[in-house]
Amino acid sequence: MTAASAVLPKGYELHHLKSVASTNDKAADMALAGAPAGSIVMADLQTGGRGRLGRVWESPLGNLYASVILRLDCDLRESAGLSLLVGVALGEALSALGPSPLALALKWPNDILIGGAKTAGILLEGSGRRAGEAADFFVIGTGVNIRNAPAKAAYPVTCLMDEGFAPLAPVALLTAYIERLEIWLDRWRHDGFSRVREAWRDRAFGLGERVRLRLAGEEIEGLFVDLTEGGALLIEQTDGRCREVTAGDVIYPHR
Ligand code: BTN
Repeated sequence: MTAASAVLPKGYELHHLKSVASTNDKAADMALAGAPAGSIVMADLQTGGRGRLGRVWESPLGNLYASVILRLDCDLRESAGLSLLVGVALGEALSALGPSPLALALKWPNDILIGGAKTAGILLEGSGRRAGEAADFFVIGTGVNIRNAPAKAAYPVTCLMDEGFAPLAPVALLTAYIERLEIWLDRWRHDGFSRVREAWRDRAFGLGERVRLRLAGEEIEGLFVDLTEGGALLIEQTDGRCREVTAGDVIYPHR
């Protein structure tokens, strides 16, 4: 493992591996062993990359796989906002590096789409937490399809190279992302979630449209009315009742 911090903002340290099962798992092990906030595990490839809800995250060479350890005074409920914050930061980094205009959108809870196809995913995991209790640490994992999108997926997928980006080294994207992440964490600490919410809504995929959602044990349809103050989806169901959704998958708006 090599450690290099020169290109990253102050307080961040990069641990760059050739291969690992999952950068999230490695970062969690390091956090448990006392690694400080700002430690980043990045790998050229993963052999057991994980996505949300126990899914596999295909992780061949050429893409970005990185996990950042954060130690924040934040509990389970607030971590929903943290996950949206990460999407805003990564979205800004991609927009700055990509062609202009770039049809980038944030799909709740934390996918990044380009031209309506998934390009990046975020897996935020916390430790030692119960609702209302601060987590000991968070691991924020990000996977960005730079050169390769999965050959088979249940939804549209793409990669940066197919969306008009110039060749991009994973570490260059990581640096741009961490710079934006640090800026947004600072805003969050000072101003709370409201600015994150505003920035997220500006790029929200499907806002104001009918969406289908897969929740634990049921599927619902409704109008994606807004993002709540706490980062949940506000859905108006066909019977006119509004419902706050805090966990689940937006399958897709009707387009
Ligand atoms: C998702 O969209 O389901 C989230 C995907 C998160 C993938 C990243 S790749 C780096 C980190 N390590 C993992 O095992 N998963 C995350």
